[in-house]
Amino acid sequence: MAKQIRIEHVFKVFGGDPKRALELVKQGLSKQEILERSGQSIGVFDAHFTIEAGETFVVMGLSGSGKSTLVRMLNRLIEPTSGQIVVDGQDIGSLNPKALRQLRRKDISMVFQSFALMPHMNVLDNTAFGLELDGVDKPTRQKQAQAALEQVGLAAWGASYPDELSGGMQQRVGLARALASNPSILLMDEAFSALDPIIRSEMQSELLRLQKIQRRTIVFISHDLDEATRIGDRIAIMKDGQVVQVGTPDEILRSPANDYVKSFIHGVDAALVFKAGDLARKKRMTFVSEQGEHCGCHAVLHLLEQADRDYAYIVAADGRFLGVVTPDSLRTTLKDGGQVIGIKQAFLNVPPVTADTPVTELFEPVVASPCPLPVIGENGEFVGAISRNRLLRFLDKDTPPLAANPKEIEPILLD
Ligand SMILES: Nc1ncnc2c1ncn2[C@@H]1O[C@H](COP(=O)(O)OP(=O)(O)OP(=O)(O)O)[C@@H](O)[C@H]1O
Ligand SMILES: [Mg+2]
Repeated sequence: MAKQIRIEHVFKVFGGDPKRALELVKQGLSKQEILERSGQSIGVFDAHFTIEAGETFVVMGLSGSGKSTLVRMLNRLIEPTSGQIVVDGQDIGSLNPKALRQLRRKDISMVFQSFALMPHMNVLDNTAFGLELDGVDKPTRQKQAQAALEQVGLAAWGASYPDELSGGMQQRVGLARALASNPSILLMDEAFSALDPIIRSEMQSELLRLQKIQRRTIVFISHDLDEATRIGDRIAIMKDGQVVQVGTPDEILRSPANDYVKSFIHGVDAALVFKAGDLARKKRMTFVSEQGEHCGCHAVLHLLEQADRDYAYIVAADGRFLGVVTPDSLRTTLKDGGQVIGIKQAFLNVPPVTADTPVTELFEPVVASPCPLPVIGENGEFVGAISRNRLLRFLDKDTPPLAANPKEIEPILLD
């Protein structure tokens, strides 16, 4: 039921002479220059990208960068000066007024920052208000409104009045009102921005939950990168009417297209985005053993002592992580059983974490581990290890998020 939205070379010029402004665009002038020369204000400048069906797509950018203008063109609350908006294969610019009303009623709902509930109407009627405007009969609209209230956790509040509700609950009613028509596309213009942080985070969870149950195409405007990375499948970053980068939160954080995007990312909670695999480094003392856990302790102890190292990672010939040993654990094993007992006996009790573990979950194991914490891949293969130092340096926001592994470190072949 979710629908795809294609935005094809869309421009929006505010002012009486958009042609002149577009001429200047073609000559390569900036938004500011065009405003100075022609008095025309560029709202959106050659936006060209696709929002996939069922994805939560976040639009970010500073105030005045064109976010609202872009989103309002998606249901033609604002008419593009040029370019096309194509919803599920249909150019909505070609719709007649009746078909356009139909589209807004059935397919596209909008939630704003100021939710403007009617104070004299109860919650159920407020939720059903859009349907009422569309001429839906009373029993049907009340049923749909009640279902929408249930979706946002307000089933019991239909008879209450807006002033009996907290701000967060009122915003939920705003969301329910948008959901009442069961739209395939939801446009949310800073819908959560006015809420205080805890309620805002609750509403984000609510939205994520609803998306799991019933996927819609959501276009969500936000100023907040933490919000964007939390709820967005992809993010578009706008500057002066232009979309300067579109990508997954990961892509944008890892390779910001320019300094403007970088300035956006600065201060984002990287710990929420990066994973253990991103931090893991290959370790100098990594031994590959043909005999796996049956390999002897002597050789490894000897090499550790020679290199004056405190621990070693033992890896099977197929790359699987087997365990960590220290000179002490090796000596104890040798004392107890001589050469008979394999290296397995010398393994420390350090359970590895998987490469997809979020950085936020690494503090405890990294601190608890007597050596850099081993990280394994999907098939148990050794990816590397994370030292306390590495984790701390990563969390220090003034340091650039991630430097690549300096150079590939070759493991040492035993046997
Ligand atoms: N009706 C209008 N008439 C003239 N200029 C307009 C109009 N609406 C928007 N603009 C201009 O278009 C540009 C983009 O505005 P828009 O409201 O889309 O920005 P925004 O990114 O949503 O900002 P905010 O974060 O403040 O909501 C701005 O320069 C604005 O001044
Ligand atoms: Mg806006």
